[in-house]
Amino acid sequence: MPKLIVTLDGPAGVGKSTMAKQLAKELSIPYLDTGAMFRAIAWKLGEGAWRWDETELEGEMAGFDFTLSGVGETSILSLNGVEIGDEIRTEQVGMWASNVATLPVVRTFLKQAQRSIGDRFALVAEGRDMGTAIFPDAPYKFFLDATVEERARRRFLQLRDMGKPAELEELKEQIEARDLQDRSRTVAPLKPADDAITIDTTDLSKTEVFEALVQGVKK
Ligand code: DC
Repeated sequence: MPKLIVTLDGPAGVGKSTMAKQLAKELSIPYLDTGAMFRAIAWKLGEGAWRWDETELEGEMAGFDFTLSGVGETSILSLNGVEIGDEIRTEQVGMWASNVATLPVVRTFLKQAQRSIGDRFALVAEGRDMGTAIFPDAPYKFFLDATVEERARRRFLQLRDMGKPAELEELKEQIEARDLQDRSRTVAPLKPADDAITIDTTDLSKTEVFEALVQGVKK
């Protein structure tokens, strides 16, 4: 029987990870943060990696093994047996991730890794192309959206809580630049799947967004 897959896509800072964790907990299944996979690759290979040639990148990535364990909010994503930590959670690494994410060779590598995790587990899968490219047959697809001002504010609070204070206006500019690149790349650009439910979360509380997701899955 095909496994339950719920896809959660949307732009930077919209709250996908928070919702993915909560929904995964509600459904007692793991969540997969695919942004963390792009970030981990970018972090490991360094800022300039997106300019490397394909063969070199392929060679490096051949040594990368992503694994998922746990359930709900305690799902753990590891790279080569080591849990991916908060070192990837800066806007700078987000931009490096967005840069490598434009490369077909990186997307092909991660597509295989993501699908092979999806073969083994029911998942709440969050990212940019979960509903369009990676799990097009998923029975439940959501696209979360919000104004860039609101997303910058949310990211600002999230970073502050992690002890990584940032400047609000600068965050807004970084998020806008990243979104533009994520939406305009040729391979698997950020966009809602035709059959996704779009939720504008700008004026919604976390509880309201969560309830909308749970309603959508129950339907
Ligand atoms: O969700 P995030 O901010 O952690 O993602 C970081 C970057 O990774 C994002 O700007 C684009 C890329 N990404 C992607 O291209 N496809 C995904 N499914 C997830 C992330």
